[in-house]
Amino acid sequence: MSNAPQDPGPFSPAPALTTRVMHVNPASPEPDVIAQAAAVVQAGGLVAFPTETVYGLGANALDPTAVKRIFRAKGRPAADPLIVHVTSYDVLTTLTTLPLERLARLKHFWPGPLTVVVPKTALVPLEVTAGLDSVALRMPVHPVARALIDAAGTPIAAPSANAFTRPSPTEARHVLQDLNGRFELLLDGGPTEHGLESTVLDLTGDVPSLLRPGAVTVEALQAVFTDLALPAPQFLPDSVPLKSPGTHLKHYSPRAKVTLFSVASSEAGSEGVDALRAEVLESLKLGVKVGVLLSEESLLALAELPVELASLGEAARLEQAGARLFAGLRLLDERGVDVIYAVTFPEAGLGRTLNDRLRRAAEGRVRFV
Ligand code: TXA
Ligand code: MG
Repeated sequence: MSNAPQDPGPFSPAPALTTRVMHVNPASPEPDVIAQAAAVVQAGGLVAFPTETVYGLGANALDPTAVKRIFRAKGRPAADPLIVHVTSYDVLTTLTTLPLERLARLKHFWPGPLTVVVPKTALVPLEVTAGLDSVALRMPVHPVARALIDAAGTPIAAPSANAFTRPSPTEARHVLQDLNGRFELLLDGGPTEHGLESTVLDLTGDVPSLLRPGAVTVEALQAVFTDLALPAPQFLPDSVPLKSPGTHLKHYSPRAKVTLFSVASSEAGSEGVDALRAEVLESLKLGVKVGVLLSEESLLALAELPVELASLGEAARLEQAGARLFAGLRLLDERGVDVIYAVTFPEAGLGRTLNDRLRRAAEGRVRFV
């Protein structure tokens, strides 16, 4: 028999709570705001808060009842484990059996957008880890996340604060779009910096292994973890059981159908944009409402067409694309498009992470050109 907690069942339609929204200064959070949020966490409630990656939906990680409420609020399967957020190495050593010296290399990335999967101690409830004997740990750098963890006096379990399979929230209003009425308090600290979730690194095996590309690039990881194992190629069918359950193919999906245009060469994509433009023209002939998600430069090629445009910023600045990707998908959904077309990035640096999120949003619909 598996130790895994029971699945909370389908996303229930009826919101039961009034979600309070409080503005918070992202650089220097007001102590009284943080104190109120910490009180909610201590009472077993749920607080959505900004991190440097995306907004998280947090609860006291050591309170199994509170943790179960996260799964119910998101409609997330109980088999998908959560990340536990901490601010100190002292607390960290109460959550993992790995000796501190094995974690020394993390100082290159922490505090920051890296998560490590390590063997857990008995203190970590199985509700957090979906019955696994490992736990995902992250030390965020965002002042609001840190202040909340410190004031609550407990590690905070937090997945991204979106409904299951929806794009991760990079603004407070995205959290409300998905989860209003399902949790007690939202701390609105403005848009998040990276806009892409943390990189997840598995340290439970013989060699460190990448489970999810994220805001820390593979190249940056390899500079410190020289023996880093990279995952087998993308496009895994949804039926294959994965080590990191949140990496299933259907994820980050807007309501519109996303199709990607991928250029085989490593040249940044004008051919991809040409193929995309041809598809846009076909779709318009059929009366389809089209949205496109492209760099400023590429959007120029579509400027005169009756399509909804969402910009990923300057083509050469991948961090801008990261910060805008999920917001762009949601914006096009809000405009009521039927389809969204985008192109893949050269598979290096943040391009690898962007491609991963785009492929999942497209649920595998990729045209190679
Ligand atoms: O940037 C982030 O990581 C954000 C912010 C809020 O910190 N959080 C986030 O959480 O993206 P979530 O739940 O959306 O993604 C957590 C990922 C999932 O892919 C999950 O399967 C994986 O981490 N994970 C968690 N615990 C794990 C474990 N014990 N073994 C393997 N994978 C694990
Ligand atoms: Mg998520």
